[in-house]
Amino acid sequence: MCGIVGYVGNRPAAPVLLDGLGALEYRGYDSAGVAVHGCQGRIVVHKAAGRVRDLQAGVPVALEEQQDPLAPDGLHVGIGHTRWATHGAPTDENAHPHVSADGRVAIVHNGVLDNAEALRAALEAEGVSFSSDTDSEVLAHLVARASGDSLEDRVLAALAQVTGTYGLAVLDLDAPDRLVVARNGSPIIIGVGEDEMHVASDVSALVRHTRRVVHLDDGELATVTADGFHTFTSLAATTGKRPIEVDWAYDDYELDGHDHFMIKEIREQPEAVRRCLSGRVDRRFATAHLGGMELDARDCRAVRRVKILGCGSAYYAGQFGAQFIEEVARIPADAEPASEFRYRNPVIEPDTLYVAVSQSGETYDTLAAVQEVKRKGGRVIGLVNVVGSTIARECQGGIYLHAGPEVAVASTKALTNMSVGFALLGVHLGRIRDLSAAQGERLLDGLERLPDQIEAVVANEEPVLAAARWLSKAPSMFFLGRVRGYAVAREGAQKLKEISYVHAEAYQTSELKHGPLALISPELPSIAVVPHDELLDRNVTALHEIAARSGPVLAITHEDVELGDLARSVVTVPRNEPELDPILLTVPLQLLAYHAALSLGHDIDKPRNLAKSVTVE
Ligand code: F6R
Repeated sequence: MCGIVGYVGNRPAAPVLLDGLGALEYRGYDSAGVAVHGCQGRIVVHKAAGRVRDLQAGVPVALEEQQDPLAPDGLHVGIGHTRWATHGAPTDENAHPHVSADGRVAIVHNGVLDNAEALRAALEAEGVSFSSDTDSEVLAHLVARASGDSLEDRVLAALAQVTGTYGLAVLDLDAPDRLVVARNGSPIIIGVGEDEMHVASDVSALVRHTRRVVHLDDGELATVTADGFHTFTSLAATTGKRPIEVDWAYDDYELDGHDHFMIKEIREQPEAVRRCLSGRVDRRFATAHLGGMELDARDCRAVRRVKILGCGSAYYAGQFGAQFIEEVARIPADAEPASEFRYRNPVIEPDTLYVAVSQSGETYDTLAAVQEVKRKGGRVIGLVNVVGSTIARECQGGIYLHAGPEVAVASTKALTNMSVGFALLGVHLGRIRDLSAAQGERLLDGLERLPDQIEAVVANEEPVLAAARWLSKAPSMFFLGRVRGYAVAREGAQKLKEISYVHAEAYQTSELKHGPLALISPELPSIAVVPHDELLDRNVTALHEIAARSGPVLAITHEDVELGDLARSVVTVPRNEPELDPILLTVPLQLLAYHAALSLGHDIDKPRNLAKSVTVE
């Protein structure tokens, strides 16, 4: 999804901006560009469809040495962008930055302007000629044509005319010492350096320069100069934001000897789970200690229902969470795609605990669902990975996942930590109700066994690799699981589709004979999740039904399950507690998707058409 960078400082801006764009590549994009104050007193733009490295290779030498003669001595100012096409094809012209007709203002914009067409028509009627098909370009013209004594005034005047979402950075020849940035629904973060300042839409582009960051809120703007920043509202009232410290480091974004970020992140899971559990296992009361929830025991007791909201894989992690919470805490719980939730005018119940779950903390649909719950007076907490992200700040408390930065588009370690987070929440809610101390102990023991067990699963890559070789040749496949195993099957199908582009469909194993069985044939493989639990017999019966139709099966199961020739391949994982087993059963499916995509020669970390964080609707 689109990314923004900005720089004000004493170093030539273009290399800093291009380096920042490189850090944003993982989010997915189709074109890129930078704009800096130029030495001839003009704005110099360099942009093109394609990869950042191609843009970098074609940088005119002059661009790297640009220095605005009007700027204070030695000062360099610039903005950059990676674009993920929404309005207009991915072409050189549609790439950002966009420059006003008089060449004095350049902007980069993330988000979608709802009234762009009307504004464009009005500007064209006044004689403004556009050079792109984008909605964003109107902002460059509006700022250039607005009246006001300062750039800040003109940006405010321009924004007063637009409706929709934006993360915006503006460069102006008449204000050569600064950038003005604004946020409404699309993140803008300021990075506070030593005698220099950075701007980005994602913290990954900032941690190479500084760990001190300022997240703008919706409706907030900022002036950014080399020696500081000033935040204010759309009514020009100062908001006085202070920087916070982020604990992610530049090294976290390095491959560190791994072939891809996805496999690196799969292998990082044991450590990620340990971090998520750290300080949260309360042995004295056989419960989970969740300090950030902002709910006391009385609040927790009053919860009569849990509703989990997330998108894509986060929603599947939410399905695991709902199953776990209902089973362990005996509170009715369900998960729903956040992208659908607010459009069905949901009933918000005062005694329901709403839980938003998100790796990035920036998924627009999830954020909008949180806002809908709050607008109707509901209580919503977050399970979020990125500290200080929009959803984390919007929620009324929550559980940080501590998975560390996730770079690969296909989410792995953050999802595992979501499940661990839900398990902690389930134990916490359960122990306030009827879950006995012995049962609490049993589940905490299970959680603490997870890291070593995940390590063992990840080390046992060979059988998955062998299965991936024959499975990746199939044009389509089923993923089957039931009750605790269904979320595992859904996540397995999702992961395979995302990076191998092979069609996969998840079904409840129990639903097979109600329709999908008609498709079973030697050409349609099934990946069956078969844990050693109370439904084992039922799952084995389904495998017989598949075998009777010569359907090939890969079984993801436990070491003590004997399947004979019902499965062509078998991958086993260690047993944990039945409620927690889904977490381990998911890991081979991550490896399966990875190896299938690898054998098909795909760009694993940046799958086609997908973005790491989906900040538009
Ligand atoms: C799957 C995947 C997506 C995300 C979804 C939500 O591998 O990455 O389905 O899970 O877009 O993203 P977050 O968790 O950032 O809200």
